[in-house]
Formats: sequence, C-alpha cells, structure tokens
Amino acid sequence: MKAKLAKMEIKRFPDDECYVRIDDDLDDQDVFLVQTTWPDRNIVELFLLQDAIREFDVSSLTTVVPYFGYARQDKQFKPGEPISARAIARLIQAGTDEFVTVDVHAPSVIDWFDKLSAKNIPAYPEIGKHLKTKGVELILSPDEGRASNAKRVADVVNCEADFLVKERLDGETVVMTPKRLDVKGKKVAIVDDIISTGGTIIKAAEQLRKQNAAKIFAVCTHGVFAGNAIPKLDAVCDEVCTTDTIENPKTCITVAPQIARIVNE
Ligand code: R5P
Repeated sequence: MKAKLAKMEIKRFPDDECYVRIDDDLDDQDVFLVQTTWPDRNIVELFLLQDAIREFDVSSLTTVVPYFGYARQDKQFKPGEPISARAIARLIQAGTDEFVTVDVHAPSVIDWFDKLSAKNIPAYPEIGKHLKTKGVELILSPDEGRASNAKRVADVVNCEADFLVKERLDGETVVMTPKRLDVKGKKVAIVDDIISTGGTIIKAAEQLRKQNAAKIFAVCTHGVFAGNAIPKLDAVCDEVCTTDTIENPKTCITVAPQIARIVNE
C-alpha cells in the first residue's frame, strides 16, 4: 500500500488484561487496522485498537481480518448454541467503516456486515500460482463442500480436481470414506481453507499414500496448526504450505499484495 505503519504499544497487565496505545497522530487519515480474530486474545486487542483509533479524528477506518476465527460456528448445530461468527461480526461492524477478510470459512459471514462495505478476498489465485511452480497434476479437496474451491485452484494450475467425502465426528476426529482416485505416480495437492489439528489432511494424505501418489502437498489458506499438528503433517505429507493470513513456520505464500490491492480500490 506504500502506507505508513503506525507506532503502537501493546502489552498485557499482570492479570492478562490488554493495554494498547497508538503513538502516532491519526487525525484526518484513512486508517487500516490489520488483526486476525484468532486466538481469542487477538479479538480483545482488535476491539481495543478500534476504540483507540476512534479517539482520533480519522477520515475512515477499515478493519482487515486476514483470518476470521469462529467462522466455523456459522449456524446453530444444536439448540442452545450461539452463532459465534455472527457475534464476532456484529462486534467488529460496530467499530469500523469497512471490513475486509480472506477466504472466510463460511461466506455467509459477510452478510452479517449489513451496514457497511465488506469484502472476502479469495486466496485460490495465489495458491494456484504456487502449486503450478511445483508441477502438481491433481488438486484434491478433502470434502465435497470445498470441491468448487479445489476446482478454481486446479483451473489456475491447469490440471484436474477431485474431492473426498469426509464426516466430522468431533473437533478432533474425522472419518473419510475410501475412494479410488487417479493418483498413481502423480504429484497431488490437498487444498483446504483451514488446517487446525491436521486430522482432515492426514486422513486424505493416507488415502493418497495407499494409492501410490508420487508426491503429496498439503496447502491451506489459514494455518492454525493446533497442538502438534505440524510434525504429524510432516510425517505424511512431502510439503506443507500456507498463506500468511496467520504467519507460521509453513507460510510460503503471501496474500498481502491482494489485500493491499483490494483496499486501495
Ligand atoms: C472444515 O470444514 C474446514 O474446512 C477444515 O477442513 C477443518 O477446519 C480442518 O480441521 P482439522 O485440521 O482439525 O481437521
């Protein structure tokens, strides 16, 4: 964006409450606040920063959430549950003029930003460009729900796409229906939006190994990597790669230029 990075102080009190202070003059500026809503402490930091920015006489505030945590609870699965994604969306909307996110898990989240401009930037073009350099021959979605995204990645790579059938039993356990795939001797990339425990990718990679794929890539937009997901994934995949919506040891694709382009429009 060729914009100035504001100086700020962020620290925690002994009881873990958050303290933020912006050490720059933001009056008359178009301000872009970039913060994910994961882990939970970042959510509090985001709301305090929105409030601190509002104390200046800013021209506008755009809140950029590269990884929108809580988007997987986008409906009531059981009575008595919150719609967590809506709860977070409403709070963010209350403190901003515009909203931008990347590959939000449930696109319907964008509809809850009903009082302002809200944009969801897809990461498939950058993921596709990366996989093209690797000579990947098949893109695999670990579930049918994201098969259309796998197809979009495959169109960029210029190869075929397929999908597996997954059932999630709980936060840690997934079951994948065995499926015969045309992967023998091929370089295959499993593409998902989020890797959390790694359970989904591991189950998919095991099927590819059994069917003698030559090389297995695991690629996602948001690398959450809960617990010891990284070593578990490294044990079954030849390469694991994520974008920088959450910076982590497996980040090898940047979506920053796409965010800058969209917010500059
Ligand atoms: C779920 O629908 C998402 O698209 C991902 O497949 C899921 O969050 C991955 O979680 P895990 O890595 O824990 O299997």
